[in-house]
Amino acid sequence: MILILLGPPGAGKGTQAQRLVSAHRLVQLSTGDMVRAAIASGSEVGCQIKTYYDAGKLVPDALIIAMFGERLAQPDCVRGAILDGFPRTVAQAAALDAMLAERGLTLDHVIEMTVDDEALIERIAGRFTCAACGTGYHDRFKPTKVSGICDTCGGMQFNRRADDKAETVRARLEVYNGQTAPLLPYFRAKGKLRSVDGMASIDTVGRAINAILEGHAG
Ligand code: AP5
Ligand code: MG
Repeated sequence: MILILLGPPGAGKGTQAQRLVSAHRLVQLSTGDMVRAAIASGSEVGCQIKTYYDAGKLVPDALIIAMFGERLAQPDCVRGAILDGFPRTVAQAAALDAMLAERGLTLDHVIEMTVDDEALIERIAGRFTCAACGTGYHDRFKPTKVSGICDTCGGMQFNRRADDKAETVRARLEVYNGQTAPLLPYFRAKGKLRSVDGMASIDTVGRAINAILEGHAG
C-alpha cells in the first residue's frame, strides 16, 4: 500500500504515520527526517540543504527527489510505505508517479489532514521527540506517561526542532499554502484525495484514517 499523508506543518502527519507503522507493518518515509539526518551527518548534501531547512523553505526538488528515490528503492519498501512530507510540489508528485510505475507500485490513498493555523502553531510550539528512538510527543496533547521518560524506549533525552521557532513556522505555513496546497486539486483530479478533520484528537484522527484505509469511511 502506498499512502500519502498531506497537510501543513504540525497537522499530525508524523504522529499518524508512527501509529500506522505499528498497525500495518508499513515503513514511514519522512523526507523531513531524511533532511534532518543529512544535516546532522554534516555531509556535503547536508550542508547544502541546511540553509533551506533553517529558513523554513523547501529543499530543491532535484535533491529531495533523489533522496526520496534512494530510500524507496530499499528492500523494506517492497510492501509499500506511508509517505510523510513527500511529495510537496507538483514536480515531486510527477516524479513519484514515475518511481511508483517503475517499481510496479500504485498510489492507493492521499489523505489530507486539515487543521486551523492557530492550532498548528500551538502544536508545533509544544512538540518534542525522544532523542534515542524518535517517538513524538507534545507538552499538552501527548505528554510522556512518566514525566521525562520516553514511553517507547525509556530514553531520558528529548529534542526540539531547530525549525520550530515562531518566525520559521510562519514561513513554513506560507510555503505550504503556496507550493504544496496545489497538490490538493492535482490528487483530487486523479480521484485519490480524501480529507480528515485534523482538529480532532489524535485517536479520533487515527480512527478516521483507518476507516478510509479499510474502505468504510462515509
Ligand atoms: P517536515 O519535517 O516534513 O515538517 P512539516 O511538514 O513542516 O511538518 P511537521 O513535521 O512540522 O508536522 P507533522 O504534520 O508531522 O506534525 P506532528 O505529527 O509532528 O519538513 C521539515 C522541512 O524539511 C521542510 O520545511 C523542508 O525544509 C524540508 N523538507 C521535508 N520534506 C520536503 C520535501 N518533500 N520537499 C522539499 N523540502 C522538504 O504533530 C505536531 C505536534 O502536534 C506533535 O507534538 C503531536 O504530538 C501533536 N499532535 C498531532 N496530532 C494532534 C492532534 N490530533 N491533536 C492534538 N495534538 C496533536
Ligand atoms: Mg513531521
